[in-house]
Amino acid sequence: MDFNRTVLVTGGSGFIGSHLVCSLVSRHPDWRIINLDNLDYCCSPRSLESVEDRANYTFIRGDVCDSQLVNHIFNTENIDVIFHLAAKTHVESSFETPSVFQHVNVDGTRALLGAAHQARHQPQRFVYVSTDEVYGASLDQVFDESSPVRPSNPYSATKAAAEYLVRSYWDKYKFPIIITRSNNIYGPRQFTEKVIPRFLTLLQTNRKCTVQGTLPKSRHFLFVDDAVSAFLLVLEKGIVGEVYNVGTSCEIPIVQLARELVKMVKNVPESEVNDWLEFVPDRPRVDLRYPITCEKLQRLGWREEVCWAEGIRQTVKWYQDHPDFWKAEPPFNQSHVLTGSDALYNTH
Ligand SMILES: NC(=O)c1ccc[n+]([C@@H]2O[C@H](COP(=O)([O-])OP(=O)(O)OC[C@H]3O[C@@H](n4cnc5c(N)ncnc54)[C@H](O)[C@@H]3O)[C@@H](O)[C@H]2O)c1
Repeated sequence: MDFNRTVLVTGGSGFIGSHLVCSLVSRHPDWRIINLDNLDYCCSPRSLESVEDRANYTFIRGDVCDSQLVNHIFNTENIDVIFHLAAKTHVESSFETPSVFQHVNVDGTRALLGAAHQARHQPQRFVYVSTDEVYGASLDQVFDESSPVRPSNPYSATKAAAEYLVRSYWDKYKFPIIITRSNNIYGPRQFTEKVIPRFLTLLQTNRKCTVQGTLPKSRHFLFVDDAVSAFLLVLEKGIVGEVYNVGTSCEIPIVQLARELVKMVKNVPESEVNDWLEFVPDRPRVDLRYPITCEKLQRLGWREEVCWAEGIRQTVKWYQDHPDFWKAEPPFNQSHVLTGSDALYNTH
């Protein structure tokens, strides 16, 4: 079958990537969607069960840092669009293994950019999915896309470094890149190390929510479907060389989040909510909040469609309906990751 467009999604087996891949495969049967992912500990192939037999879906298990493999993909497939999501994403771990984060997030982006730029078939768009954390924290200033970048943890520093690399390909070669910086994204299938699934998993197994620190830390939470619709809109209407914040006004203090989830999962009265909270030490310095404005994206026509009440309802229900989704997953053996042109193309 001839396809109108070939889209490469890196990190397509991860939380956001799998929602993006499912959406692309279903909405665009005339597009071929290739997912390049090394199946790190935080993802499950089951996230893509609904599309794995589709004729327009191809999975390549491999490492985005493997230049030989990445060059091979660009030399053998006519890639029109790249959504680059593959990354190490857990902030806590980035303090323990910053060099791993630097390798995957920066070197991986460099390998991908180099291969995409040198490909015989020139891509139309390279969308780099970055984070609001590159701005660093703010108590009162709301960040827009022109605000200075001041990352304050190893994860966000590597995302910012990768952004600079991406931007340099626009500045130097007019390679058609677009960068998105999103708030915290939540929804079904997110790995249990992130705050909402962590709280839900603890509560479902009758353990207390461990709230880190006592500082008034809050986060903005955007439902994953809204994030995906922003990425798809940016692909079609975004201006090359530009950065787009993807944000939400839904800001929730972490303690309030825990309390809300206790009530939803344990169904207890207000007077018993505290029995399900446990305060544990936090890092010495932690970013309290990341306020951003996304007027630029809204001018393209994007609106947040899923309110917090609905998004969290769907999320809680998914974790209740799939209590073993993450439990049953054995750690993937990294030695099985394919390299170079030996990569197995697992069509469908
Ligand atoms: N989750 C959020 O709240 C959020 C917010 C803003 C931006 N982002 C960005 O969105 C992207 C996806 O985030 P997520 O939450 O889905 O993360 P995730 O950890 O669920 O998924 C990351 C994916 O990348 C893959 N991966 C890791 N290293 C790889 C490598 N070397 N080669 C190939 N694949 C590799 C993993 O296997 C996994 O499938 C990341 O770039 C992240 O920085 C996430």
